[in-house]
Amino acid sequence: MKRIGGPTELYKTRAGLNLQAKPLYVYKTDFFIKDNFLKDFINKNTFHRDHGKIKIDLSTATTILTDFPELDFIKERFVNIGLDYARNVLQIENDLIMPHSWMAITKKGNSHHEHLHQNALFSIVYYARVKSGSLMIALDKSTIEHIFNFHYKIKNYNIYNSSTWEVKPEQGDFIVFPADIRHSTTPNEDEEDRIIFGANFFITGQMGEKQKLTELDLTNVEVQWP
Ligand SMILES: [Fe+2]
Repeated sequence: MKRIGGPTELYKTRAGLNLQAKPLYVYKTDFFIKDNFLKDFINKNTFHRDHGKIKIDLSTATTILTDFPELDFIKERFVNIGLDYARNVLQIENDLIMPHSWMAITKKGNSHHEHLHQNALFSIVYYARVKSGSLMIALDKSTIEHIFNFHYKIKNYNIYNSSTWEVKPEQGDFIVFPADIRHSTTPNEDEEDRIIFGANFFITGQMGEKQKLTELDLTNVEVQWP
């Protein structure tokens, strides 16, 4: 059977249209939190480590950015980056809320198991301290595995043929990703704790149109079938 292929002179340009992309964005910033502030805040608060799969110290506060006025300067960054992502990346104008926010400390040797964020549209993780470790993204299948689940002979890994991705965060990074993306972290191999703040975002307000039978008022949902 003749192999399909041909010389590049066959065309003038080759343009891609990457349909159904998953918009994971890295915002590089020079927003850094002072050591003393972080240390004092951690000492004043409580963290728990589940003795199951979770190998990180997670804040007991689940709305940490709204609970503590002294974190307003961090919350403001989250809100503005969340808005930028919604308006300029997703290009949606819906109202947003930030229903969950947390702080997580990963000590040397620890890592975060694979998980996703339920009841959220997208999530933001801010790396306050990170000297070691990657954010690992695990998709169920690559794009070409969705077409047919062959075990392909990959020449170079790219966005079409890869189902896992490694993102190497630096201090000051805000990573924004759709909340249904499965992710985990590699172990922190540095003496210094890896410290992140995270937040989930969700849609609120009036959605859809009455005439199109899509109207939904998320600010006023009445439970009729208890
Ligand atoms: Fe997560």
